[in-house]
Amino acid sequence: MTGKTRVCGIIANPVEHSMSPLMQNFYAEKTGTDLAYVPFRVLTEHLSEAVAGAHALNLQGLNVTVPHKQDVMRYLCDIHEDAKAIGAVNTLVRREDGFCGYNTDAAGLLRAMTEEGIAIKGRVCILLGAGGAAKAAAYVLAKEGAAKVYVLNRNRERAEAVAESINGLMGHPVLTALSLDGWRGIKERDCLAVQTTSVGMFPSEGISPVEEPAFFEKLHTAVDVIYTPMETEFMKLAGQAGVKTMNGLNMLLYQGIIAFELWNPGVKIGRDVICKARELLIGQLGDKRR
Ligand code: ATR
Repeated sequence: MTGKTRVCGIIANPVEHSMSPLMQNFYAEKTGTDLAYVPFRVLTEHLSEAVAGAHALNLQGLNVTVPHKQDVMRYLCDIHEDAKAIGAVNTLVRREDGFCGYNTDAAGLLRAMTEEGIAIKGRVCILLGAGGAAKAAAYVLAKEGAAKVYVLNRNRERAEAVAESINGLMGHPVLTALSLDGWRGIKERDCLAVQTTSVGMFPSEGISPVEEPAFFEKLHTAVDVIYTPMETEFMKLAGQAGVKTMNGLNMLLYQGIIAFELWNPGVKIGRDVICKARELLIGQLGDKRR
């Protein structure tokens, strides 16, 4: 580091488990960018001072994660339209008068799906879950021109809230809320399913929010945003039904790469670095990936 080194970091609580410092410093090294990235454990009651202090200390940017992704929106000078639509911010980019908030989860998911050749436009989609990850996925599906999105959730009211908010943004009713077993009434075939619940995530592997073969017969492609394990029960069941599958590892990878590129305009992380970063990330997952 030198006097010119630019500083970025992550604010979270806890932060100790975060893989972002390893990944972001890897990108800095491999792209020859003079940038250091550090973890900051920030308590909720200190969030306002932390954001103001980071700006005062001339930080170039921050990642934001649990539990600050919504609360941080109050302390920003501007918010990008994707983050406004999703109602959560995971990346702050320095501006003269404060930080601008972005959400790179949606763009990360889109990039991962595009790279796998998974098309959204004109497709009938089934979104499982109605939490934060579901909202980012719902936004991507609606914005990319899905013909219809069924939002299925254990708590149907939460599914209704997601549908109402995204439909309001789109100006037409793309999303329909259903309860978790509402898939039985879906008549379409060749659907694109996106699984965003926490069901099946390490350390509770081996379960899926839907397990009946009749559900998977309706699908063409099944995306799970979980990456621990790398093959979830949802993906296993989909695979057994001959459905194409994708896990959440590349979404995780790309949301970080997009953040790095936002902090360093003009710097592009090349394909070879991305491949090495993926290996690094998989190594970090350790036993959780199985
Ligand atoms: P995130 O921000 O990661 O999406 P979240 O907001 O806590 O996390 O959302 C978790 C999602 O997993 C929700 O859709 C939740 O369903 P409810 O809204 O009904 O709680 C879903 N989920 C968690 N445990 C579940 C279970 N055992 N069965 C079905 N859905 C479950």
